Amino acid sequence: MTYSNILVDYQEQIALVTIDRPKALNALNTLTLQELSQVVEDLANNSSVRVVILTGSGEKAFVAGADIAEMNMKTPLEARTFSQLGQKLMNQIESLPQPVIAAINGFALGGGLELAMACDIRLASEKARFGQPEVNLGIPAGFGGTQRLPRLVGSGRASEILLTAELFDAQEAFRMGLVNRVYPKEELQEQALAMARKIAAKAPVAIQLTKSAIYKGANMDLISGQDYEAEVFALAFHTEDRKAGFKAFLEKSQTEFQGR
Ligand code: HXC
Repeated sequence: MTYSNILVDYQEQIALVTIDRPKALNALNTLTLQELSQVVEDLANNSSVRVVILTGSGEKAFVAGADIAEMNMKTPLEARTFSQLGQKLMNQIESLPQPVIAAINGFALGGGLELAMACDIRLASEKARFGQPEVNLGIPAGFGGTQRLPRLVGSGRASEILLTAELFDAQEAFRMGLVNRVYPKEELQEQALAMARKIAAKAPVAIQLTKSAIYKGANMDLISGQDYEAEVFALAFHTEDRKAGFKAFLEKSQTEFQGR
């Protein structure tokens, strides 16, 4: 399948998804959101893909936000639908069985930062710049940013970012725990692939269950979260990979996990 604004490339068990509107700094218009949603749905059903990397095309941007020119034409009702379209996509990414690594190669602003926050792991180029500048346009964030940012960095820091609209660099994003690691620009893609390969070598069902426990648990109290953890822990004992993993450890050998 080919898309106008998304590129999908496969490297063994890794899918590299690139938002490809470099002339508009990869801004998310409706078509791009719809195409990305279709890509994510296809990946969810593709068990040969174990890890997804999401990045932006060109030198300058990961994603510089939702498309301002397109949003300018919207009525309040259309604006609500657009917000919900983006929110649905972010939730769909978060719910993917495979882990998603955001390789943030430049500006991650507004809807771009919201997209990165829906990923499991964020790696950044040292040139990346971050922010939620929506209030400069007279709007609040609308693709989940008012909800995910406080969960990731705490409500005090999130409030400062969302209320001042100030941009900040990759080191600052690293200090506040918004990105996991920062790399020189030319190393980012290779480092993202190296991390993806590391995760792809683990038992896919265990990875999926871990991801599920992290996100479900974040919306539960501690005891309910632990109940869910025990449930997924038991589920893993139905898998061949669990048996193979234990056997390899006990026999001091290696195994290749099959994903079942
Ligand atoms: C549409 C955009 C865009 C965007 C950049 N462009 N960001 N188009 N939507 N979000 C376009 C510019 O219009 C320009 O097109 C081209 O990309 C290059 O951008 P420049 O501004 O010329 O580049 P530069 O001077 O280097 O500045 C880079 C920048 C700036 C600092 C990132 O472009 C910028 O401030 N962009 C907007 C960032 C923003 O406010 N994001 C939040 C959007 S609101 P032309 O045709 O002139 O070359 C949002 C809401 C989400 O995300 C929730 C919705 C429900």
